[in-house]
Amino acid sequence: MRAINAAIIGCGAIHICHVEALRHTTGAHLRAIVDTDIVKGQALATSYGCHFYQDYREMLQDQNIDVVHICTPHYLHKTMILDALAAGKTVFSEKPVGMNSLEVAEIADAAARATGILGVCYQNRFNPTSLAVREVLASNVLGKMLSIKAVLTWSRLGGYYSDSPWRGRFATEGGSLLINQAIHTLDLMQWFAGGVDSVKGVVDSGPLAGTIETEDSAMATFALHNGARGLFWATNNHTADSPLLLEVHGEKGMLQLRDNTLWQISGDQRVALASDNPPTGNGKNYWGIGHQKAIQQFYRAIQHEADSEYIDIQQAAKSLYIVEAIYRSSQLRQWINITQ
Ligand SMILES: NC(=O)c1ccc[n+]([C@@H]2O[C@H](COP(=O)([O-])OP(=O)(O)OC[C@H]3O[C@@H](n4cnc5c(N)ncnc54)[C@H](O)[C@@H]3O)[C@@H](O)[C@H]2O)c1
Repeated sequence: MRAINAAIIGCGAIHICHVEALRHTTGAHLRAIVDTDIVKGQALATSYGCHFYQDYREMLQDQNIDVVHICTPHYLHKTMILDALAAGKTVFSEKPVGMNSLEVAEIADAAARATGILGVCYQNRFNPTSLAVREVLASNVLGKMLSIKAVLTWSRLGGYYSDSPWRGRFATEGGSLLINQAIHTLDLMQWFAGGVDSVKGVVDSGPLAGTIETEDSAMATFALHNGARGLFWATNNHTADSPLLLEVHGEKGMLQLRDNTLWQISGDQRVALASDNPPTGNGKNYWGIGHQKAIQQFYRAIQHEADSEYIDIQQAAKSLYIVEAIYRSSQLRQWINITQ
C-alpha cells in the first residue's frame, strides 16, 4: 500500500508539531507544504525534502495528496476546509474549526457530503491525564458530579500579537484568549462533564487593551448538562505559562490536575493517577503532548483501524459554541442557553 501523502498549509508556530507528528505516524508522508511567505516556505520545504506551493489551491490539484493539514490563521479555516473537501481531500484542521456557529454549520454541511473525512486538533483530549479523568468518571467512583473548576493563567505579551498581526483582531482571529488559548480548557470541561447547557460569563482586556482589540481575560459559570456547575477563569496576562489547574468534584471525592499530574483525592488520601510529561522536539510545553497521539489516531481512522479516535466537526463545535456563548453573555449580561 502506498503512503498516505500529507500537505500542511501554514508554516508558522504550530506547523512543526504536525511535521514531527507525521514523522512518527506509520504510513504517513509529508509531500508538500504551503505558505504565502515564499522565502520561509521554500527554505522549510528544502529542509523537509518536500514540495513547496505558495497557493494552496494549486496544491489541492495534486492528485497524490490525500490529507491536508490546516495550520493557518482562524479566518482562513472555513474556506480552506471547504476547498480541500471539495477537492476530495481528507482534512485535519487546527482549532478552532471556524470562527463561529454559522461557519460551523457550513463546514458540517460540507463534511456530511464529502468523500474525505474532517478531523479537528484538540490534542489535549489525548493527554494521559485527560484519558485518566474520563476513565475515573466512567467508573463512577466519584459518585454524582457536583462541580468542575478550571484556572488557566498564561502569558501572551505584545510581541505575540505583533509577530502575527492576524492575532488580536476580531476579523482574523475571532477573539483571542477564549477562541485561541482557552478553547482547549473549555473543550476538556465540557467533555468531562458531558456538555454545557447554559453559560454566564464576562470577557475583559487588561494591560493588552491598547495592543489588541480582543479579550485577554475571561471568567464564566456553567450549568452543566449533568446538573453540576462549572467555574472557569482564564487570562493571558500572567507572568508565565502555568500548567492548567482543573478539579472535578464528586459526592465521594475529587480529581485534581495540578502541575501536569492528575491526583485522586478522597479525605486525607491522595493518589497520583497519571502525568503529562513535557513534549520532546520543538513543541511548546503549554501546547501539551497530544499532537502526536491526535494525528496518529486520525491517520488510523483514515485507514479504518478499529478503536481509532478523532474529533469530528460535531465534537469540535461544542467548545466553539461555549466560546460564542461567553462572548454573547458578556455583551448582554445574562445567561445564554446553548441549544445546539
Ligand atoms: N493546537 C494547539 O495547541 C495550537 C497551538 C498554536 C496554534 N494553534 C492554531 O494553529 C493555527 C496557526 O497558528 P500559528 O500560531 O501557527 O500562526 P502563525 O501566525 O505563527 O502562522 C500562520 C502561518 O500561516 C501562513 N499563512 C497565512 N495565510 C496563508 C495562506 N493564505 N496560505 C498559506 N499560508 C498562509 C503565514 O504565513 C504563517 O506562516 C491557528 O488556528 C491556531 O489557533 C493551535
